[in-house]
Amino acid sequence: MHPVKNVAEAKEKIIVPLDVTTAAEALHLVEMLASEVGWFKIGLQLFTRNGPEVVRLVRGTGARVFLDLKFHDIPNTVLHAVESAIALDVQMLTVHASGGHEMLAAAVRGAAGSATRVLGVTVLTSSNQQTLTETGVMRPIAEQVESLSQLAAAAGLGGLVASPLEVALLRAVVPREMKLVIPGIRPAGSDANDQKRIMTPPEAVAQGADYLVIGRPITAAADPVAAARVIVASLQG
Ligand code: C5P
Repeated sequence: MHPVKNVAEAKEKIIVPLDVTTAAEALHLVEMLASEVGWFKIGLQLFTRNGPEVVRLVRGTGARVFLDLKFHDIPNTVLHAVESAIALDVQMLTVHASGGHEMLAAAVRGAAGSATRVLGVTVLTSSNQQTLTETGVMRPIAEQVESLSQLAAAAGLGGLVASPLEVALLRAVVPREMKLVIPGIRPAGSDANDQKRIMTPPEAVAQGADYLVIGRPITAAADPVAAARVIVASLQG
């Protein structure tokens, strides 16, 4: 459905999460993989321990950064938090779509005038029906995901983070310019680790994924560079 034309396009689709504790470990991964993949994701683990300095260090190498802090707060706070992220020169960031229209619109305003893409998280893939019920959401997960994706689209978000099982559904209901960023990706034959709903890189792209978050299959490989290259090659069919 969305063929990858060349090596550069395949690399551009891959986001490696820096799921480590220290800035030194993060920079080691970046130095090793910067010429193999398009992006690096900095999440709560690395950010909370090292602060914005680790973002500056990674950006300082020239690598593009996806700051995955999943903002969810009052609109005014989210607006200014997004401005703070933009000041760090990150290229993508996340907010919880369940924050509602006003909060999402504030996030979009915070990023106005920058090239930074604001992504919405719909329902965390760690959630099941019971989790929704516990928090007062009675409808089926798929309906909740679709409804939140429409909310995100209406507020002008630049994309969504979603599980492999939701890609096809979301691709059919949100505007094409909204990018779908998909974790839970496992190359054929690799260890699923704790991921329950997985898809291979070419499958996810065929279903409409724009970006693939691929961690342990690359970072825990004996040779991460070789592992990344195999994935890049697989995307070119
Ligand atoms: O190592 P692995 O490929 O499983 O890493 C996936 C990355 O994507 C991790 O940083 C994880 O927190 C993140 N993620 C996920 N599932 C989601 C959202 C984010 O695995 N639904």
